[in-house]
Amino acid sequence: MPKGNVKAAGIPSSRQIARPLLAWYARARRDLPWRRSRDPYRVWVSEIMLQQTQVERVKDFFVRFIAAFPDVQALAQAEEHDVLRLWEGLGYYRRARQLHAAAKQLLAEHGGRFPHTVDGLRSLPGIGRYTAGAIASIAFDVPAPIVEANSRRVIARLAGHAKRLDGPSGDTPIWEIAERLVPKTAPGRFNQAVMDLGALVCTPERPLCTACPLAACCVANQTNRTATIPMKAARRETKQLRETAVVVWRGGRVLVERRGPEEWWAGLWDFPRRATSQALAPLGCGKPRRLGRITHTVTHHKITLEIVECAAARAGRTAANRAWVPVAKLATLAMTAPGRRIAGMLEQTSR
Ligand code: ADE
Repeated sequence: MPKGNVKAAGIPSSRQIARPLLAWYARARRDLPWRRSRDPYRVWVSEIMLQQTQVERVKDFFVRFIAAFPDVQALAQAEEHDVLRLWEGLGYYRRARQLHAAAKQLLAEHGGRFPHTVDGLRSLPGIGRYTAGAIASIAFDVPAPIVEANSRRVIARLAGHAKRLDGPSGDTPIWEIAERLVPKTAPGRFNQAVMDLGALVCTPERPLCTACPLAACCVANQTNRTATIPMKAARRETKQLRETAVVVWRGGRVLVERRGPEEWWAGLWDFPRRATSQALAPLGCGKPRRLGRITHTVTHHKITLEIVECAAARAGRTAANRAWVPVAKLATLAMTAPGRRIAGMLEQTSR
């Protein structure tokens, strides 16, 4: 039996939740660097960073990025390599390339100003429903919803939505509920409050329902189902990959190659890599010497990387996507995460 004042299976209304939620947000909101202004550029950069990266990790990256590229124009006029260098460590580099492309488009087609509508924002590279909703609601007071990991959980529990959320259209009912809940007044604060509630109170495990401003109208709470709502996603298996990274030396320099457009870490520099079973001969190097092993996890793959070094056997021409670089210069390149770790090993030994 439902307890308290919730109607059986009744999704709470926007009016019921907006006031207590915003009062709670005024007291408990997280102090985050991108919340110090409503500048759409800052909202946009932060939301792109937050798409696949935790809030704590994003904070410093955001501050450094804004210091280097304070507005659309600065970003549009930057070299892609410098944008990637500042993104290094955040992962999912396609985000950075699209951010850069969108800044160029904003400058060329919109005089550097952001469209104010969700549809206008969605016409820019890398801006989907979520990011458009965030910019429109936070910067321009448009009552558009945003659904991300925290708000998805809050809304599923509030509405007692007990179905699967993974899969291609699993989120659709959550977007529909979010659309109905977002108020006309202070939609940006409302959306951020839902996210903060998810991060601080309505946590995945053991939510703090006794501290929740919405407990009385939350269907999952009132029907004792917070442990099973939202339904857990099916776990994807991790694939194991074995590769060899080769540090090829030539006269005090090492060979690096740029990752191709269809590869992980596209556009970033790395040491040449081969499947461990593959011959190293095409790299034109002498007998390899083992340097060590590292493991790295990237989107459902665990890569075990054997690291070897060798001397370049013949001079030959260097392909356009390759370069010979002194170890001390590696710090200036935008590198893949494993590449940066190998560079760190070389810097240590060459000191
Ligand atoms: N996660 C995604 N967007 C966020 C925001 N604006 N504030 C806090 N967490 C978020």
